Amino acid sequence: MAYEHILVEQNEHTVVVTMNRPKALNALNAATIRDLNAAMDAIAADASIWAVIITGAGEKAFVAGADITEINTVDSALQGTRMSESLHEVFFKMAELPQVVIAAINGYALGGGFELALACDIRLASENAQVGLPEVTLGLVPGWGGALRLERLVGTGMAKYLVMSGERINAAEALRLGLVEKVYPADQLLAAAHELAQKITRNAPLATAAAKRLINRGAEMSLRDAVAYETGIFGQLCTTADCKEGTAAFIEKRPAEWQGK
Ligand code: CAA
Repeated sequence: MAYEHILVEQNEHTVVVTMNRPKALNALNAATIRDLNAAMDAIAADASIWAVIITGAGEKAFVAGADITEINTVDSALQGTRMSESLHEVFFKMAELPQVVIAAINGYALGGGFELALACDIRLASENAQVGLPEVTLGLVPGWGGALRLERLVGTGMAKYLVMSGERINAAEALRLGLVEKVYPADQLLAAAHELAQKITRNAPLATAAAKRLINRGAEMSLRDAVAYETGIFGQLCTTADCKEGTAAFIEKRPAEWQGK
């Protein structure tokens, strides 16, 4: 499939989606969002893809936000609402993918760019990365779930601090706050993302997909409802061929061979 503003490259079972509008620091315009949406549909339908990495073209930015020139042309609340909805749909698709989605934040991840990273399952960052939600400096709130995902990640006070100040923070501070999981020198970031993708996809595929679903859905439930949901998933996994194989492999002291069944 041909895309205008993203590159999609598959290496064995991992796909790298590169946000590719370097002249605008990979800012998300409507055409880029359409590309990303189509790419997620294609990934969802392709069983040969086991992991997804999202990164930005160039050395400066992951994604510098929504395209501000497009926001400036919005002239009705309905149009603004549609703009907001456009990425929500894509982000929920990413959450529903059985594959892990890893953000490799290789520079600025601001506004919609940070929101994209927050919608990924796991965030790795380069030492020169900077993240933040500067929408209030433009007369806006984050429109792609950023304030809400941030609140779930770091709590109410820190979410208000970051969203209401619009402050940009560096990779070390983002790591300290739990906004990114690991930080690497810029030239090692993509290799680290591939290594993580391989580490995850060496595990039983039904189990890793179930773990993603459990954590995503469980985060939206009370603990009592979430453990009831967990119990059902655990029970189902106990009956899979992969669980029989994984436990037998442990007992027989040999590597497991997964069937995804
Ligand atoms: N939209 C459109 N164009 C953008 C852009 C954006 N979000 N970010 C950068 N660009 C463009 C610049 O206009 C510039 O274009 P020209 O060369 O044609 O002038 C080019 O990219 C390079 O940018 P800078 O010259 O500004 O680069 P810099 O190194 O001086 O600064 C930066 C880098 C700090 C990231 C700065 O570009 C910046 O602050 N960008 C905007 C960040 C932002 O506010 N993002 C939030 C957007 S709103 C949003 O995302 C809403 C939402 O939640 C839905």
